[in-house]
Parts: sequence; C-alpha cells; structure tokens
Amino acid sequence: MSEQEITVPDLGGADEVEVIEIVVSAGDTVEMEDSILTLETDKASVELPSPHAGKITKITVNIGDKVKEGDVVGLMEVNGGSDASSADTEQAPAAAEPPADEQPAEAAPQESQAAAAESAPKTAGARQETVKVPSLDGMTDVPVIEINVSAGDVIEVDDPLVTVESDKATMEIPSPFAGTVDKVLVAEGGTLSEGDALVEMTVAGEGSDGGDDAPADSEPAPAAEQPAQVESAPEQPSSPAPAAPTAVKTEAEVAAAGTKVHAGPAVRKIARELGADLTRVKPSGPKNRILKEDVEQYIKQQLNQAQKGSVVATGSGIPGVKLPDFSQFGEVSREAMSRMQVATANNMQRSWLNVPHVTQFDDADITELENFRKSQKKAGEQKGIKMTPLPFLLKACARVLQELPQFNVSLDLERKEIVRKQYIHIGIAVDTPAGLLVPVIRDVDKKGLWELAAEAAELAQKARDKQLKPAEMQGACFTITSLGGIGGKAFTPIVNTPEVAILGVSRAQMQPVWDGASFQPRLMLPLSLSYDHRAVNGADGARFTNLLGELLGDIRTLLL
Ligand code: COA
Repeated sequence: MSEQEITVPDLGGADEVEVIEIVVSAGDTVEMEDSILTLETDKASVELPSPHAGKITKITVNIGDKVKEGDVVGLMEVNGGSDASSADTEQAPAAAEPPADEQPAEAAPQESQAAAAESAPKTAGARQETVKVPSLDGMTDVPVIEINVSAGDVIEVDDPLVTVESDKATMEIPSPFAGTVDKVLVAEGGTLSEGDALVEMTVAGEGSDGGDDAPADSEPAPAAEQPAQVESAPEQPSSPAPAAPTAVKTEAEVAAAGTKVHAGPAVRKIARELGADLTRVKPSGPKNRILKEDVEQYIKQQLNQAQKGSVVATGSGIPGVKLPDFSQFGEVSREAMSRMQVATANNMQRSWLNVPHVTQFDDADITELENFRKSQKKAGEQKGIKMTPLPFLLKACARVLQELPQFNVSLDLERKEIVRKQYIHIGIAVDTPAGLLVPVIRDVDKKGLWELAAEAAELAQKARDKQLKPAEMQGACFTITSLGGIGGKAFTPIVNTPEVAILGVSRAQMQPVWDGASFQPRLMLPLSLSYDHRAVNGADGARFTNLLGELLGDIRTLLL
C-alpha cells in the first residue's frame, strides 16, 4: 500500500470550479474511476473519478470549496505494492483522463456562448431565433434528461434551456439569447446532437430604453416574476420551520418548481438506482442543488411512510399498492422497464391524478362515409396511400375544434390563465412494440384527406421504426386514439395533459337504427370523448360528440 494524493485534473480551460458533492468518505474502498467528487462550473457538472483503486484515507475539501487544476482534494491508500505504486504514479495522468474526456461537457456551453454571442445580432427590435445545440465535442445522441423551459417563459441569456446527460457528465445547454420561449422543440427522453433545433424564441431587442416599446417590453414583466417566485420557493421551508425537517417536497412545492432539478451526475445515478423521483426531493445544497444526503433522507422518509401505512408510497401522496411476494404463487421473472415505459407510466399517472376526467360516449353513423371511403380504394392504390377512417376523424375533429374553441386550450393554473391556441395540431396515438407514442400532425384544418392519410401513415411508421424526432411529438392541441382497427365498444382514454380533451374511437359495427318507420342497418362508429372538466363543461362535451357525429354522418358538411 502507498498513500497518494488525489488531485484535480485538467479542467478543460475552466479556472476555479466548485465542489458541489462529495461522494466518498474516509475509509471507503473505491475502484479506479469511481466517483470521488462532483465539480461544477456555472454550466456543467462533472465527476472527479478516482485515479486508482484503493482506500480513501482523507478528503481535504468541503462542499462549496473552489478548486483548480492540481489542487489536492484527498488522500488514498493505493492497492498493490511499491512497484505497483510507481506504476500507478506513472499512470496517474492517464487515469486522470476521464475528467479530460469530460472537458467537452465543460467546454461546450462556453463555445455555445461564444458562438451565440457572435450570432446574436445587435439590433433593437424583437426577432425570431431558433436556438440550436452547440458543439458537444463529438458526442452525439446525448439523452435529454430535463427540459428547463416551456413556451411562454421569459428567459435571460445563459438561462438553462435543457439538461443533457452523457455517461460521464450532466450539462445544461444555456440560452444564447434573452427573450420569450415560443416553442420547445425537444422532449424529455429524446436525444440531441450538435446542430439540432432546441427552441424557438422571440429575442428581446437590445434597447435598455425599453420604456418606449411599452407593449412589448411591459408585457413580459409579470411573466418574469414567475421564475423569481419559483426560485425562492425552496427557501421557504427554512423560515417557518415548525415541523420536523422533511426531505419530501409538498405538492405545492413540486408544482411551483416544475420539473427543474439541480443535481450532479452521481446524485442522479443514486436516485435512479433507488427509484427516487428527484422532482420530489427537497434540495439542501448550494443554489438549491440536491445532494446525495437529500436523496437518502427522501428514501428513508418514503420507507418510514410505507412501513407506517404498510404500503409502498408512490411519491404522489396517495397510498400505493403493496406488492406481494409473487413467487409464493408460482415462478416469476423480472425485467427493467424501458425509459419509454417509465415515462409513459409517469405521464399517465400525472394526467390521471391532475385532471378531473369525464368521458362522453356517442355513436356516429358512418355508413355514407364508409361508402365514400371504399369508393376511393382504387384512387388510393394508384397514389400508394391507404385511406382509413382516421383522416376523416382528423378533419372532422379539426372542424369541431374550430367551432368549439373551448376544447383548443390549455389551463395555466399558476398564472390563472387560459391559453387559447390559434392553430390546430392533432396527436395520433400509435401502438408500437416499444409502447405508445403520439406523433403530431400539424395544421390539420389546412390539409386535405389524402395529405392527412399519407402523413398519418408516415408518422405511424416512423413511430414503429423509432424514428420520430422529439419535435414531431410536441405541440398537439388534441389527441385521437383509435382502437378501431383492433376492437372494442368503448373506453375511457386519459387526457394527454396539458391538452384538455382526447377522442377515443372504437370499432365500427353494423347496427339496427330506427329511422321513425323501420330499423335500418347502419354502420355506427363508437366515440369516447374524455375531457378535463376544469376546462370543459358537460354540455360542451355533448356538443362536441353531437357535432362530430353530424360531420362524420355527412362528410359533405366538412366542405361547408
Ligand atoms: N372501425 C372499424 N374498422 C376500422 C376502424 C374503426 N373505427 N379504424 C380503422 N379500421 C380499419 C381500417 O380501415 C383498416 O382496415 P382495412 O385494412 O380493411 O382497410 C384496419 O382497421 C387497420 O387500420 P390501421 O392500419 O390501424 O389504420 P388507422 O388509420 O385506422 O390507425 C393508427 C392508425 C396508427 C392509429 C393505428 O394503427 C394504431 O396504432 N392504433 C392504436 C392506438 C392505440 O394504441 N391507442 C391506445 C391508446 S390508450
């Protein structure tokens, strides 16, 4: 055994960086490249890996300390004899390479700033900009673990837009501009490479004498207050502090903070391993950063709660379902859920718990529609496009959304505002082997049936081939989920929040329908419209399915 210093490796140009997390303590045995500390510049977090395998004897820095290249952060007894130790010493620079690998993570945002600064025209008027991913230094398809902004947010230069995470580093991609976010073009769980479009934004003019442009300049002001409130939220618990400290955020705190989480890669890793939802963990570190201890405390509390209530907590404040030991009933196997399955499960639960759902059932007489659809079969073969009932549903729903705009909204309860959309983009639920995906067809009201049929088929195929880009799954005002090709009579679809309604379609069937004199065989299409009862009242729910039934019953009315 020989004692060696653990030093800070080359930081890729960064001068001083802050220690935000200490992962090991004296006495811990580590392998080479195990994480020792997490360091953070104002743009990225990187782990400092152990240069050797051995035992930590001392950590000489504290959280919050600033360190630079060459500083000693601890001591360790290195495994192996004196020969090995000299070999190790020689290897030290090489062993320090992992952080050097991580330099791109540090360097990238700086480059992006420089590039952005160059590209930012110094004009006084507002303008549209599409922010693209800066150089990721060779890394491609880096997973997006967090979206830090949403449409309508007023942001400053360098505010984080998204957080990406490679194997080694978590990195925030900062905004090169100040202004308002118009559209976020990526989704959590997607991947990014250099040059991918991130967000569209309206960039504020440069003039600080902005008092002149009163409407433009004064409007963002109230919005800008929102992030300020959000920022201060995590500090609130310390002032009243009446009860025992808790590591679990209240529902209000979770809502106030949104999905923004500040945590280093090591903490994220622990959270993933322990199944902790970081959006619910109360941060205690500097700049509201979640520390390893916070996650441990959170898990402890969840377990205590579970023991008291004899259930496994779900993290949503609602008692979860306690799983029995299934092996007592027969043989079982277990497999990890994919990221997509976890994301779908979380989204479904979030929507189900947040949205008071009501489902309106009705049938549409599509006998004539079906005759027309069949008459187009040859034309479809010539065009190479299959005309299913879906394009008719898209077109008819677009019309209903125009006629009943209370369905084309989102609720912003934080600001107590209704967001009315002046566009009609509709999501279509696609069943894929990997799970449910919802690509979005844009401007449905402006497209013809063949165009919609072709686009729906293309997007469904892309979904099945896992080729959908995050931007192709964003921006829907409303969703159609059609189980017509599979079967069933009715179901209660879950609203794809923040949309406020979703149409479920089941299998059309011939039924005897009374026409006032006799029963007629009519092809009836079952409709199941679920809506958010906070945004839509029951009468409007019935109006929606009535109007949809009329439009589908006589598709000539779609032309009117
Ligand atoms: N009633 C009767 N038949 C129907 C129908 C309906 N409501 N809807 C579609 N069909 C028929 C189609 O005409 C087609 O028949 P054909 O081959 O004889 O012409 C057949 O069912 C298959 O249609 P499909 O290929 O599925 O096309 P589509 O345009 O109807 O649907 C998708 C496309 C992507 C929506 C669909 O394939 C899909 O994935 N549905 C599942 C969505 C889902 O899982 N939702 C659950 C969310 S909780």
